[in-house]
Order: sequence, then C-alpha cells, then structure tokens
Amino acid sequence: MTKHIKNICCIGAGYVGGPTMAVIADRCHNISVNVVDINKDRINRWNNPDVSQIPIYEPGLSDIVLRRRGKNLHFSTSLKENIAKADMIFISVNTPTKTKGIGAGKASDLKWVESSARQISKFAKGFTIVVEKSTLPVKTAQVIKEILESSKKENHNSFSVLSNPEFLAEGTAINDLENPDRVLIGGDDQQSIEQLSNVYLNWIKKEKIITTNLWSSELSKLISNAFLAQRISSINSVSALCETTGADIKEVSEAIRTDKRIGKYFLNPGPGFGGSCFKKDISNLVYICDYYGLKEVSAYWQKVLDINNWQSERILNIIVKNLFGTLSGKKISILGFAFKANTNDTRESPAIKICKGLIEEGALLKIYDPKVEEFQIEKDLGQPQLIKNDNNSGWNFSKSLLDSTKSADAIVILTEWLEFEQIDWEEVAPMMRKPSFIFDTRGISNINDAEKYGIKCWRIGSNLNNKYYDK
Ligand code: UDX
Ligand code: ADP
Repeated sequence: MTKHIKNICCIGAGYVGGPTMAVIADRCHNISVNVVDINKDRINRWNNPDVSQIPIYEPGLSDIVLRRRGKNLHFSTSLKENIAKADMIFISVNTPTKTKGIGAGKASDLKWVESSARQISKFAKGFTIVVEKSTLPVKTAQVIKEILESSKKENHNSFSVLSNPEFLAEGTAINDLENPDRVLIGGDDQQSIEQLSNVYLNWIKKEKIITTNLWSSELSKLISNAFLAQRISSINSVSALCETTGADIKEVSEAIRTDKRIGKYFLNPGPGFGGSCFKKDISNLVYICDYYGLKEVSAYWQKVLDINNWQSERILNIIVKNLFGTLSGKKISILGFAFKANTNDTRESPAIKICKGLIEEGALLKIYDPKVEEFQIEKDLGQPQLIKNDNNSGWNFSKSLLDSTKSADAIVILTEWLEFEQIDWEEVAPMMRKPSFIFDTRGISNINDAEKYGIKCWRIGSNLNNKYYDK
C-alpha cells in the first residue's frame, strides 16, 4: 500500500514556494509543511505577526497564512532538521539566467539548485521523494539525481526525483493553485508519483493530474511559457501596425479572440512581458536548441524575445519624441512598476528599462506603485532617489497616485492596476503642467475622459490620437 506523506519540506520561501506550500497546508491539514530559506530576513517577514508584512503580495495569501501558520505551516531557516524529518522535499529556489561563463545570458544558473541537492543528500534520512518545482531547464532533474546518487551510500539514504512544474501566475497564484488547469508530474518511480498525486487529490480531481516521463514534464513547462510569451510578442507586434494603419488593437484582439482556436487569453498588448519566467524560459529554450544544432528553431524563439525588447524600446522612443525630444526639466509620473498587476514582484519588469531610459534622457520620475516598495525600486534602478531635489534627473518615490501626478508634464501607465483604470481625470488633469500628456502602455485608461480635460493621450495600438503624435 502506498505510504501517505506526513511531512513536507520546501526549500525556498519565494514567489513559488511560499504560495504553493500555503495552499498545500490549507488543503491538507494532516500534512506538516515546513518552508525553509537561507534568507533570514525573508523568513522573519513570513513569521511577522502582522500578516500584511509577509514578503510576498498575492491576493488571498495572507488569509491562508493567518489560518495555517503555527498549525501545519511553518517558516524557518533550519534546513538541516526540516530536511531530515521530511518524507517529501520540494526544491523551489531561484534559478536566474547565468550572467557569466558558458551560456551567459541564456542558460539558467543552477548553483542554488545544486546547493539544495547537496544539502538534501547530506541531511535526508531514509527514503525521500525530491520534487523539482522551480522553473528549470530540461534535464535538471538528472543533475539533481546525480548529486543525490553520488552520496547515498555514505549517508545511508535513498531518493526518487520527480518533476512537478509550477504553472501559477503571480497575482492569481492562489486561485491557480486551488483550481489548476492541470497538475503535471514527471518521473519514473510509480510509487513516488502516486504519493505526490495523493497530496494533490486532497483538492484536485484525478482527471487533472497528468503523468509523464521526467523530461517531457520539464520541457512542457518551458513550452507552455514559450507559447504564452509568443502570443504577447505577436499582439505587441500588431499593436505597432495598428498605430500606423488606423486599426485599433482593442477591436482587432476582440475580433480574433472569439475564434475558439485562438482563444481569449494573453492577447492584451503592453510594454512587453516581464516576470521571472518568460524571458528565462525562452532563453533556455534557445540555448537548448542551439546546443542540439537546431538553428532555425532557436532563431524562431529568439524572435519572441527580440520583439519583446523592441516593444519597450519603441515605447520609450515614442515618449521622448512626443515630449519634444527632450526630457530635461520635465516631471514624469510613472504609474506602476511591478511587471503586472496584483503582485509586488518587479523581476524583468519593462518598467525598469523604460524608467532607466527616461532618466537617461534627463527626466525626473515620480514613481507610484500600489505594492512595490521604495527599496526595491532603488535596487532595480541602481540609484538612490533624489529626495525632493526636483531640479535633477532621477527619481522620487510617491506614496499615492495624486502625489505622483501632481505638477507632472506627463503620465506613463506601465502596470494595469485597477486603480489606474479608474483614474478620475477631472481631479488629476488640473494639477498637471500644461501641455499635459498621457502615455497608456496598457490601453486601460479612459482616454476620452482624459481628453475632455485637455490632456493629450497616446494609447498603445491605437492611432485615434495621432493627430498629436509622432511615431
Ligand atoms: C507565467 C505563466 O503564466 C505561469 O503559468 C508560469 O508558471 C510562470 O510564468 P507570470 O509571469 O507570473 O506567469 O505572469 P503572466 O500572467 O503570465 O504575465 C507575464 C507577463 O506577460 C507580464 O509582464 C504581463 O503583463 C504580460 N502579459 C500577459 C501581457 O503583456 N499581455 C497579456 O495578455 C498577458
Ligand atoms: P521563485 O519565484 O522561483 O520562488 P524567489 O527568488 O522568489 O524565486 O525565491 C527563491 C528563494 O529561494 C529565495 O528566498 C532564496 O533565498 C531561496 N534559496 C536559494 N537558495 C537556497 C538554498 N540553497 N537553501 C535555501 N533557500 C534557498
């Protein structure tokens, strides 16, 4: 009979590990879930009695933490003891793109995965199922397996390695975990696959659990993300065409999304995709294809990345050109810094590149995001804020939309937060400097309203307003 999992350890208390373990603890009260991380500050924040201070903003997450923390959900830095008592260990550590050495800029840096595998091999007791959860290049499970195998004799332990890729999207992570389209489990040990399936069966229907071999599971994750990112690059390329031809991207995407074969999701134009996965995964895909000599395939996927870079550069140029070619002495209100709405994550956010470019052109930015903290923006822009020295180019942090937009020459909407869809232009417009401009890179604001109050508006994928605008 298959043994039931009683104790789970998750290495990595980040955007994947934190929400995933919170939902497992919430749905499986008989399993003790221990999330461990080497980052002490992060763990302290997870344990903060005030749940609004947990390190990750994700709708619904703090309620679950409040319900389960201290019961069957624990956060700590004690890797050794939590690894030792676990029946199942999830690896959810970060795997950024390598910055130097072979594959720099393309391949994933696996040093954190490797170090997790070494810690597991050292501290695990008896038989342990190791689950690869982070987004990883194909064949990483093999690396983990080899590290675990190499030391099992001296440490008297044994392992089975499974791939169980994460499909949650930030901002909707809790719902994605509670009601996933599918759960994918790759591996070759049927008993282990069954044990992990049994954890999910506590709240997910059997039909949704797909089992494959290890490599199919790993590759499926990369390809899912590549297909999603490809849709965004496709619609973004069409946004430029709409702006020049007089078609409207909203109407075009509405018209094509009714075709069942195309479907309605991931057709919103924007300043380019960000987040920790898309760029990294496609870069990995390009790297693998190059490695196996599939030049045409690698060039095909590389183009998805190229269009993404081009889109944010294109937008930056449009802003500069339409503010009369110079930004020095101009104040620009930046609305949104996160890579998408409903998260405080800024990894690969197009806002970083656009803001850096605007500062280089001499602008003073007043950046407001409902959830991104000051220290994060400072880290991403690589420079401290000016602290109200309004004569220099640089950036200042704004605590509210009105503070950010007051006396601004232009507003640039970079993240699709609901608050920005609902801007009251009657209130905002009179406080801006004239001539006032809006650059809506997400196509969410009510442009007709803003124009009524004398603001010149540019909206992505539309040329309605190009009487004012240079492309
Ligand atoms: C993605 C995948 O969706 C998820 O399945 C995987 O597990 C991790 O990577 P995430 O990066 O969190 O999730 O968010 P997602 O909603 O996919 O958005 C990624 C980027 O694409 C964001 O910058 C978003 O603004 C952008 N995007 C998304 C668009 O520009 N247009 C769209 O229509 C959809
Ligand atoms: P993701 O989006 O993949 O969850 P994050 O960067 O948000 O990525 O989280 C990964 C977490 O993994 C970080 O908090 C980091 O400190 C942690 N981590 C990295 N390496 C190790 C390790 N060897 N042991 C424990 N925690 C680790």
